[in-house]
Amino acid sequence: MPASLSSHRLRSGLVAIGVVLLTAAGSCDAPPSPPTATQAAPADAPYREKARPVAERVADLMGRMTLDDKLGQMTQAERKSATTDDITQYRLGSILSGGGSTPRPNNAEGWTEMVDAFQRAALATPLGIPMLYGVDAVHGHNNVSGATVFPHNIGLGATRDPALVQQIGRATAEEVAGTGAHWTFAPCLCVARDDRWGRTYESFGERPEIASAMTTVITGLQGEQLGGPASILATAKHFLGDGGTSGGKDQGDTKISDAELRAVHLPPYQAAIKRGVGSVMVSYSSFNGDKVHGSKYLITDLLKGELGFTGFVVSDWNGIDQIDGADRLSAEDVRAAVNAGVDMAMVPDHWADFIELLREEVRAGRVTQERIDDANRRILTKKFELGLFEKPLTDRSLAATVGSDAHRALARTAVAKSQVLLKNSALARGVSERSEGAPQGAPGNSGRVLPLAKAGNKIFVAGKSADNIGNQSGGWTITWQGESGETTRGTTILQGIREAVAPSSSVTYDASGNGIGKGFKVAVAVIGEKPYAEFEGDRPDGVVLDPDDLAMLSRLRASGVPIVVVLVSGRPMDVGAQLSGWDALLASWLPGTEGAGVADVLFGMVKPGGKLPVTWPRDGRQPANGGDALFPFGFGLTY
Ligand code: GLC
Repeated sequence: MPASLSSHRLRSGLVAIGVVLLTAAGSCDAPPSPPTATQAAPADAPYREKARPVAERVADLMGRMTLDDKLGQMTQAERKSATTDDITQYRLGSILSGGGSTPRPNNAEGWTEMVDAFQRAALATPLGIPMLYGVDAVHGHNNVSGATVFPHNIGLGATRDPALVQQIGRATAEEVAGTGAHWTFAPCLCVARDDRWGRTYESFGERPEIASAMTTVITGLQGEQLGGPASILATAKHFLGDGGTSGGKDQGDTKISDAELRAVHLPPYQAAIKRGVGSVMVSYSSFNGDKVHGSKYLITDLLKGELGFTGFVVSDWNGIDQIDGADRLSAEDVRAAVNAGVDMAMVPDHWADFIELLREEVRAGRVTQERIDDANRRILTKKFELGLFEKPLTDRSLAATVGSDAHRALARTAVAKSQVLLKNSALARGVSERSEGAPQGAPGNSGRVLPLAKAGNKIFVAGKSADNIGNQSGGWTITWQGESGETTRGTTILQGIREAVAPSSSVTYDASGNGIGKGFKVAVAVIGEKPYAEFEGDRPDGVVLDPDDLAMLSRLRASGVPIVVVLVSGRPMDVGAQLSGWDALLASWLPGTEGAGVADVLFGMVKPGGKLPVTWPRDGRQPANGGDALFPFGFGLTY
């Protein structure tokens, strides 16, 4: 839950103010007592020998580590809350950028300078253990200005193309590694069962088999094995049942049987483990009232035991704090999380508290040394496998991949393949039902509204998301929540339409639809949702069209011109009452920076092939999941 303020954040902000006051009184968040000294290791220590088996290197290194070294390895701080001196002094094992937490300049150079400075601080510790820098690169390296932003997962689920998704993972890894980061908190393998959930778009769909198939992205991100060219650590998240909460409430309670949890939400993790995913992030949600962050049954017995996961488990952003029911990090929280099987704690601000509290728990025997050693063994194994001890600093040759033409071309292909054509009305012979002169059909046009003719056409484009990179990219883009407007470099859907038409055609744009009239052959209305992330996107009362879109649509309808609706949204929206007035409907999802991919389908350069990854409910009623559908799971038309 990174950087931008919201009501939730405001509460946290007040807590933070309280903490500052308390710290002044010396009662919490005081700097941890200085760690015990560690004997520096000789240059030829076995753990420094690349040729040795990783297990031997880990054993040798751990034999040299003090308890404080080990506690530091289990601690992940946010970049704004820890200095390079902190990293060296407290031997922090990882630093993260929360969503939107970016250096200045926010480009490959700025990121590389930042990450390498943190890394040098880690290498300055007595044992020189490199740190892991983690980011949410969930649809490309989306924090970085100018990076390629790919379609969000729900659109990739509509492609049903695991090989394409693996390529996207590879491209994302190159851009992440090109900025110096080593680890992405992706893919989200959530199985979204209620579209009122604000994270539905982070899901590949409502059935586990899609997410399982798309774990190919992990191979793209990590490579066939960790440590290869541009290999970064992937994270299967959020374990377990995040998409199954009652009412789609983010961080809510998943009240289902163990059998349903295993049948619906577990299979993607089995597939991810088979692909060697290096880390798993715990879900904020609860399972039948028990916080997953404190669940030894789910994290240790099921994930590490039954499934045999040998990577490491990271908690979610302050997720540990919630275990005891109060929002503040407590000794009980720390004990419960680490004993449940959390190996690395994402404690963005209160990392000092975490170290103090965990040290006390170990000294009191409430957390065993074996558990601390198991956590360190898991973390250090991934660091060795990633090659961080040999190549701790950024490979600057990869900076050129950030936002590259090749990656943008791949993204444009993915956008086109993710489009789902839900309606495409036939035009009355010669003319459309309601206006002069049907759109000149494109070659192969079957006398229907789509595909649009490139030549001799007179196209009116409207809608808040027609010329809006921010809207078409959605949340987790440049900032945590994302935002409307020209937030990064890319091609809007309108620009894609303008590029597609021949000189004999004209394209007129007005977001509100003012100026529409009978002289136009077709109107393209690009509507849907504004960006959001996590709980900010929860819609407990349903997912409905906003008044601006409705007002614009009625303006278009009054003109009698055929209407093609392009829906830019993170999930199905309640369109039942409007659909009969639309001549075509294209579900575009959240396509990212390459909006020309939408135009490729509108003009028939690419035939629509996307299939719904979710049930589209008839009256917006949730959860749908195969119920009474306006459009059923798997539906999609073509030309
Ligand atoms: C967030 C999200 C998680 C993300 C983490 C770090 O709250 O739940 O998906 O990886 O914090 O930004």
